[in-house]
Amino acid sequence: MSSSTHPRHLVRLHDLNADELNDLLDLSARIRARTGIATQRPLDGRAIGLLFFRGSLRTRVSLEAAVHSLGGHPINLNAESDFWELEHTEGVVMDGRAPEHIRDAAAVISKYVDAIAIRTAIGHRSWKEERRDLAIEAWTRYADVPVINMESALWHPLQALADLLTLRDELGELRGKRLAISWVQSPQPLSPAPIHSLVSAAMRMGMDVNIAHPPGYELDPGVLEDARQNSDSELRTGLTQKDAAEGARIIYARSWRSLETWDNPTLSASRLAKHADWRITEDLMATGEEARLMHAMPVRRNVEVTDEVLDGERSLILRQAENRLHTQKALLSRFLRP
Ligand code: CP
Repeated sequence: MSSSTHPRHLVRLHDLNADELNDLLDLSARIRARTGIATQRPLDGRAIGLLFFRGSLRTRVSLEAAVHSLGGHPINLNAESDFWELEHTEGVVMDGRAPEHIRDAAAVISKYVDAIAIRTAIGHRSWKEERRDLAIEAWTRYADVPVINMESALWHPLQALADLLTLRDELGELRGKRLAISWVQSPQPLSPAPIHSLVSAAMRMGMDVNIAHPPGYELDPGVLEDARQNSDSELRTGLTQKDAAEGARIIYARSWRSLETWDNPTLSASRLAKHADWRITEDLMATGEEARLMHAMPVRRNVEVTDEVLDGERSLILRQAENRLHTQKALLSRFLRP
């Protein structure tokens, strides 16, 4: 399963060029309509390692189901229960918590499987350190097989693929359409990775993007600058929810941790308490242009988004979650082509 040539990895969506991305979205739609790779088993006899250093519901189930349906065998491992912390620092004296280095784990697992999918741990460093994404980078350096990012600190390309398919299903041509992204309240905000990937992907497709968030919840400036550099679309940040929603066809909700207080839970909690009214309501949705709701989930009902919106006709969240399965089947069948 190791190969002498350097394997191709998917860390962020930009690892796919425009033709590959459009081809994947087309194939995903055909798979969903059961007209693509319906009878083929492109992963026949192949094993895919899924390593989780953080919990997951959708990514784990949809990817495992995708591997199965393509004839492959998924091997799921959770760091908390099945193995242990891994070190990623080069040249370190390993007398701390981690008993094994990614260098060794990646080299060994590459002997057993045909691809390794990783969801990295996040949470105890400053954002400046976290954004370097050193763990996923170490996996790509030391694995002899393709590495697929199942969500690192900075990126969530698998979610972005499903988001793009959902946007395309709903809006058709994306160029010139407006996407509003709104930060929302939660007692446990999550990572900004899905939003970083979404902003980057949507602008690459020509969408204009409005981002609403309270002061102190700015997204990663490097990611936003990169999105601007790779697009001629408009990007407006730091808006109120209402200003962001005006003219938007899609309102995408997510609660992300403040990057400024990333490694300071006390300051984070006191800052969070001030923004309890940041949620998605029917009134806000009505501000958009026949706006639909998207959310990567998990979603805290009546904290982030009201039941009325989540269960109403505007909600795309189940179609969006379903698209995780179809896009991942397409990705695996293209990415792991024999
Ligand atoms: N959207 C998403 O990645 O969900 P999980 O965290 O449940 O995998």
